[in-house]
Amino acid sequence: MCGIIGYIGQKKANGILIEGLKRLEYRGYDSAGIAILDQGEIFPLKCVGKVHELAKKVQSHFQHSGTIGIGHTRWATHGNVSEKNAHPHLSNGNNFAIAHNGIIENYLPIKAFLIEKNYKFYSDTDTEILANLIDYHYQKEKYLSFAEIIRKSLLHVEGTYGIVVLSKIFKDEIVAARKSSPLLIGLGNGENIIASDAAAVARYTKRVIYLNDGEIASVCSDNFSVITLGEGSVDMVYHELDWEIGDEDLGDFPTHMLKEIFEQPSSIENAMRGRFTEDASSSKFGGLSLTPQEFRSVERLLFCACGTAYHACLEGKYLIEKYARIPVDVEYASEFRYRNAPLQRNTLVFVVSQSGETIDTLAALQEAKRKGYPVMGITNAVGSTIARATDSGIYQHAGLEIGVASTKAFTSQLTILSMLALLFARVRDMDDFSGRQYVYALKTLPKTIKEVLKLSEQISAIAEKYYGQGRFLFLGRQTMYPIALEGALKLKEISYVHAEAFPTAEMKHGPIALISEESVCIFLATQKEMLDKTMSNIQEVKARGAKVIVITSNTQIAWEVFCNEVIKIPETHPGVNPIVSTIPLQLFAYYVGLLRGCDIDRPRNLAKSVTVE
Ligand code: M6R
Repeated sequence: MCGIIGYIGQKKANGILIEGLKRLEYRGYDSAGIAILDQGEIFPLKCVGKVHELAKKVQSHFQHSGTIGIGHTRWATHGNVSEKNAHPHLSNGNNFAIAHNGIIENYLPIKAFLIEKNYKFYSDTDTEILANLIDYHYQKEKYLSFAEIIRKSLLHVEGTYGIVVLSKIFKDEIVAARKSSPLLIGLGNGENIIASDAAAVARYTKRVIYLNDGEIASVCSDNFSVITLGEGSVDMVYHELDWEIGDEDLGDFPTHMLKEIFEQPSSIENAMRGRFTEDASSSKFGGLSLTPQEFRSVERLLFCACGTAYHACLEGKYLIEKYARIPVDVEYASEFRYRNAPLQRNTLVFVVSQSGETIDTLAALQEAKRKGYPVMGITNAVGSTIARATDSGIYQHAGLEIGVASTKAFTSQLTILSMLALLFARVRDMDDFSGRQYVYALKTLPKTIKEVLKLSEQISAIAEKYYGQGRFLFLGRQTMYPIALEGALKLKEISYVHAEAFPTAEMKHGPIALISEESVCIFLATQKEMLDKTMSNIQEVKARGAKVIVITSNTQIAWEVFCNEVIKIPETHPGVNPIVSTIPLQLFAYYVGLLRGCDIDRPRNLAKSVTVE
């Protein structure tokens, strides 16, 4: 969603803000802007569209050399996509400029109050009311510090926010505050950078602190201080970012999505590193603060997540129930948070989120904690809000994922969930030999994935034949069903083509009515025990005119005789088979999107991290 940056230091702020906004581009946005404090005045510059358009505008007619400023990429919520609605917004009289992520829910009564006080409004946003509310409090109590003025203003606000505020009254500081929308301060040498995402600061410093909800930071060039909105105390924890400079560069790849697909052998390796027992018969997670006895006493698991992470959890259900025999529930985080679900005693809750910032997942986490359940996290973003709010958890170590369509984060989640299935199974009924076989399959997974990636050209050629078709159905049974769901989601996100997924046998209960010559059915036929049934299902759609693409590891059946395309992948252990089967679907979605001329890394309407409900 929206991205925020603020800079205060010795260098010209323009360049640093634009560079920072470019690092936030992957989150998805529709307009961008900056505001610089130069010679005692605030100068804003905004534009609709991409950050490089804003950069061009800066180059051609915005030569302000101020060393303090704020910037924003906007994903429209209140008001259409236009320059007047783009951030930063200025208060009447230009004393304050603000960039804001989130939604001010009570903006209408505040606006009415401010209109009564003669404030004028020039945008349709909820953010502009904040700018004027801050000015109102400043005019009322001019002796207050900048942070105190922000505090007084925010006390009237309901909703969510991450804000940075610049002022021509308080020339040597930027004030930042958060509630349910991430913000961190990158601590440099004689300069500090505030951002909504570590990607924007990693280039300048690795030392960061994350603001907590209700904290308000006053940031100067060589120091900062934090107060709280209410009575609570400040809880500051320093973090070291583990990203390498250059992680965000494309290298030889044309897009981040393709780069990230090809990074999967190493991201999967990193998810497993140091996480097997010495006897190589089970897995272990240092981050999970549970003893073997506590692992044994878990009677039920509940997973909450959104989108792709939800599909990973669904796969976790199949694997954990199959190997560990523990009942698992999987819920969309957005449903769980409002459902008041009855939970059984001894339920262990897991939330799964690549970004660690998804607001629905965070709310589900808070709801489960409120009810007294232990909540573990599986996240990729170190220090993210979800990572900090869980009782303990597992980091994915997949590295920075920039493509909006999640790929390497998904397979790294699958890997961790498969390892969890093994761990829970080994403290219950799985024997030593089966444990070793499982570990061996996991350890050889990166090599297997490298083999599957060699199919890229074949899959590109298949995409070339079918990318113009109007409907794609992804079909899989059991552990292949979540993978089918993820295959359909990837295709929708990247190519905007209609795609759906079903458990294969469900076809004849309704969806088969969709089948026509316009349809392409993609069957996941990689489980030995399901082959006969799957072959019959293929015949059923073939008879109704559909084109069939099959992904299989069986080499005995003459698939070519009754399928249009056959993608052969290596046969693997059932605990890792879903991970291997995912790769061809990611490549297929990628090539179809490319052939349909879509913006692969920034699909329309989508944001990398969804921080509004
Ligand atoms: O960061 P999260 O894993 O919490 O994100 C959840 C979803 O928003 C995300 O997986 C989304 O579905 C992606 N666009 C999938 O490619």
